Amino acid sequence: MQPAEFYQRDRRAHPPALTPDYKTSVARSPRFALISLQGSVSETTGPVFGHDDIAPIDNDLIKNYAKTGDPVGERIIVHGRVLDENARPVPGTLVEIWQANAGGRYRHKKDSYLAPIDPNFGGCGRTLTDETGYYAFRTVKPGAYPWRNWVNNWRPAHIHVSVFGHAFCQRLITQLYFEGDPLIPLCPIVQTIPDSDAIDRLTAKLDMNATVPLDAIAYRFDIVLRGRRSTLFENRLEGN
Ligand SMILES: [Fe+2]
Repeated sequence: MQPAEFYQRDRRAHPPALTPDYKTSVARSPRFALISLQGSVSETTGPVFGHDDIAPIDNDLIKNYAKTGDPVGERIIVHGRVLDENARPVPGTLVEIWQANAGGRYRHKKDSYLAPIDPNFGGCGRTLTDETGYYAFRTVKPGAYPWRNWVNNWRPAHIHVSVFGHAFCQRLITQLYFEGDPLIPLCPIVQTIPDSDAIDRLTAKLDMNATVPLDAIAYRFDIVLRGRRSTLFENRLEGN
């Protein structure tokens, strides 16, 4: 592969660590100057994922937890490519997602939202990008849910996304939103991001060309690992 230009990240796209309207950022933000730590050997050498670790059904959240039938909800395909800063594909990347069900409830013991658990929906999936960096999931569109920040805050419909490199310390985590959702501009977490283009890059776009007629509509979400057009990764706000 030809070496290519390295583009600096655009730091204006990054949320400040302290954003009091997102309450938990007050306790999480550093009060002292940051120090740089070297990655340990175990962090930089493992674990390593292989194609054998992924079952064919793992990227189909409509089927991978189904017990008595398909889960309730709007059937969607979420697909795209994992790319570097020069739009070159990143193959063999483990992409994992987790999400609430169509009612906005996670299958998690700490989620006590009154929307019911769907017995046919687990809410987790994974897949590896192919040689063109492409990935695809089939799932149901997650519902919005309330959260305890101020008195009436709702998370826009979103899917949590993680991509792995070749070592544990190379994990990048973000959230994708859905084009046109009116809750996006009202969300205190989204609004910690000062750059509207960076928010737009977290928004999956309706993709009619990838819909399956009479079955599922599609949303497109490309993940850019670094550079000026980098996806914003919530676990690497200091840089990726
Ligand atoms: Fe969430």
